[in-house]
Amino acid sequence: MSKVHVLDHPLIQHKISIMRDKNTGSKEFRELTEEVALLMTYEATRNLPLKEVEIQTPVAIARTNVITGRKVALIPILRAGLGMVDGAVSLIPAAKVGHIGICRNTEPSEESAVDEYYCKLPFDIKERDVIVMDLMLASGSCANAAIAKVKQSGVMSIKFISVIACPEGVAKLQENHPDVEIYTGALDEGLNDDLYIVPGFGDGGDRFFGTK
Ligand code: URA
Repeated sequence: MSKVHVLDHPLIQHKISIMRDKNTGSKEFRELTEEVALLMTYEATRNLPLKEVEIQTPVAIARTNVITGRKVALIPILRAGLGMVDGAVSLIPAAKVGHIGICRNTEPSEESAVDEYYCKLPFDIKERDVIVMDLMLASGSCANAAIAKVKQSGVMSIKFISVIACPEGVAKLQENHPDVEIYTGALDEGLNDDLYIVPGFGDGGDRFFGTK
């Protein structure tokens, strides 16, 4: 079963509390999303492999560590996941960024719970460690489909990060993708009848883009 990391760093907790406030406007919500994404990326990359190298300092030769191994690709799920990219890229500037557009299927007659409407992944994604990101892990349908899509490209190492999550979404990923570790800033109570996270922070895309 995949591990769930609830990131209890005080800065992450504090910033998420402000994001939850319905009186927080889009400008601040955007800034906070970027900051939380940066802090979460820091935690999610804690186990990147290192190798020792020798560096000549002005004083002596230092035996010191640099990151080695596979490069990273960030895959935000459109649209709300887009808000997390800049924070993550500021820590991993060499990361390539792919995009997956997936939305919940509102037609009950349709077999699949989701519609994929866009997908553009880095050509060398197979050689990269991938971080799939979305603002929220709600029912888990979109994250589940996005991760399946990334796996179809032959990727072996995937992490999922979301600012907040709920047990339903976590359970879905754990069932379908037990190899994918989940990083989140909060594990909320659950979903309401409209599939919003409770207490959550409402419609993440609308809060971020100011569309409502
Ligand atoms: N999508 C949202 O925008 N908000 C939720 O709470 C759940 C899914």
